[in-house]
Amino acid sequence: MQNNKNIFTASNCTCEFGSGKKIVRAVDNVTFEIKDEEIVSLVGGSGCGKSVLAKIMLGLHHPTSGTFLYNGNPITNTKIHWREVQAVFQDPFSCFNQFFTIRSQLKAAFGIMKDKPSTKEMEDRVDQALLAVNIKPPEIEGKYPFELSGGQMQRMLLARIFILRPKVLIADEPTSMVDACVRANILDYLMKLKEELKMTIVFITHDIGLAYYVSDRLFIMHKGKIVEQGSPDEVTSSPKSEHTIQLLDDIPEIHRDWIVRSPSAKLAHPAV
Ligand SMILES: Nc1ncnc2c1ncn2[C@@H]1O[C@H](COP(=O)(O)OP(=O)(O)OP(=O)(O)O)[C@@H](O)[C@H]1O
Ligand SMILES: [Mg+2]
Repeated sequence: MQNNKNIFTASNCTCEFGSGKKIVRAVDNVTFEIKDEEIVSLVGGSGCGKSVLAKIMLGLHHPTSGTFLYNGNPITNTKIHWREVQAVFQDPFSCFNQFFTIRSQLKAAFGIMKDKPSTKEMEDRVDQALLAVNIKPPEIEGKYPFELSGGQMQRMLLARIFILRPKVLIADEPTSMVDACVRANILDYLMKLKEELKMTIVFITHDIGLAYYVSDRLFIMHKGKIVEQGSPDEVTSSPKSEHTIQLLDDIPEIHRDWIVRSPSAKLAHPAV
């Protein structure tokens, strides 16, 4: 169950790039809290600042004004931060080196840990992680990333998360490369991981249907701002922002029935 502890606290947090007339305000004065064990989705169109906000959460960018805190403190040491806060990105192939076997790279994940387990325990935990994402260890034995499909590689990223057992997972479009069936599987693995590891998850997507399915709360982003936030039912049944309505209209056909399952959403938004 969620407790009331704030994992992330953003107060008037802005992140700009460039200078003078070429300034880009990627994140614009956002204020929010994300609680322990919550699943929050950042939803918005391309270029609205989702990934920049994710990178602030990872300590890869820092606010140019305002504050951003993890567990009540600014993020200063990324090496320590990444022991607790990990990410899954859009393109799983870019996260693995093509010239090393998958298994050796899964084992290398232990490198960021403070206390490395014994070799035997590392091997066992790699096997457990593979089984957790429905891959039998012999299936990837001796294999390199280019020998697996995009969907299998996305599952390898999740296996890596299972090995690292982070407190917080930032999942930036983790199902962008897979078909609907594999997508549903990956989302189910993610939920299983969340249950097992009691993680806080920040899920990033263009697709408000997908976000509705997995989240406790939705943050709708537009041009660097959070234009609306609330529970999936609140946001989808009585959207307050025109940008939310646009996102509801843009839901891929295949995910529409996830939202239509909510009776209030049908009434308030018959087009969905
Ligand atoms: N390192 C950077 N330097 C300069 N501008 C940047 C940098 N990173 C992002 N931006 C700009 O910030 C804005 C927000 O980018 P961001 O990557 O967060 O978008 P996004 O919402 O993740 O989009 P998508 O859905 O396409 O991934 C864009 O205008 C982008 O060009
Ligand atoms: Mg992005």
